[in-house]
Amino acid sequence: MKIVLATKNPGKLKELTELAKGLADRVELVLAPEEFDPEETGATYLENAIIKATAAAGMTNMISIADDSGLEVDAMDGRPGVHSARYCEGSDGDRRKKLLNELASVPEGKRQAQFVCCMAICDPSQSESIIYKAEGIWRGRIGFEERGAGGFGFDPIFYETDSDVTAAQLPAAEKNRKSHRGLAWQQVLSFLEKTLIR
Ligand code: IMP
Repeated sequence: MKIVLATKNPGKLKELTELAKGLADRVELVLAPEEFDPEETGATYLENAIIKATAAAGMTNMISIADDSGLEVDAMDGRPGVHSARYCEGSDGDRRKKLLNELASVPEGKRQAQFVCCMAICDPSQSESIIYKAEGIWRGRIGFEERGAGGFGFDPIFYETDSDVTAAQLPAAEKNRKSHRGLAWQQVLSFLEKTLIR
């Protein structure tokens, strides 16, 4: 069975395909078509995931899976949250710098944060077309300096709880096992296995 991932990012396709190896003989994940470009106007990750899943399923008439994610900092009342990618103009590095500046006076012990990821599955043949929703949360803290060269986004300043290792220092397979996206994806895979591809 072919399932469309509601993204044009080949890196995401590769990562999620790798994590779905157990289903490889039954599921083929493909990228959304070139014209896929829905406006992410939702107020929550789940709303954005539903917008993207519905758009990809509508364009392809295939079952689709979408995700949306962000970083929530406790001392900033959950910001930047759903606006993480647009926290400020410029590069990922600019956004990390701005976040470290904003937290400059927040002491160790009050710098907890979490990555959150929501996923939605859309089946365009059903009248209630959103047939599954999942959420994954990865708790950690924002450090005082960048460490590591892996990952992307806020990874180099996101430290695991009770450790001095950042998400950017973890091997990809370990990050995928622990991360918000990996945890949401595990739930999606169990749903596919139980419900769609028995
Ligand atoms: P998206 O939902 O994958 O597009 O992610 C939205 C934004 O949240 C990204 O641009 C990053 O700033 C941040 N983000 C989400 N997941 C991660 C992660 O695993 N590591 C670092 N930053 C992330």
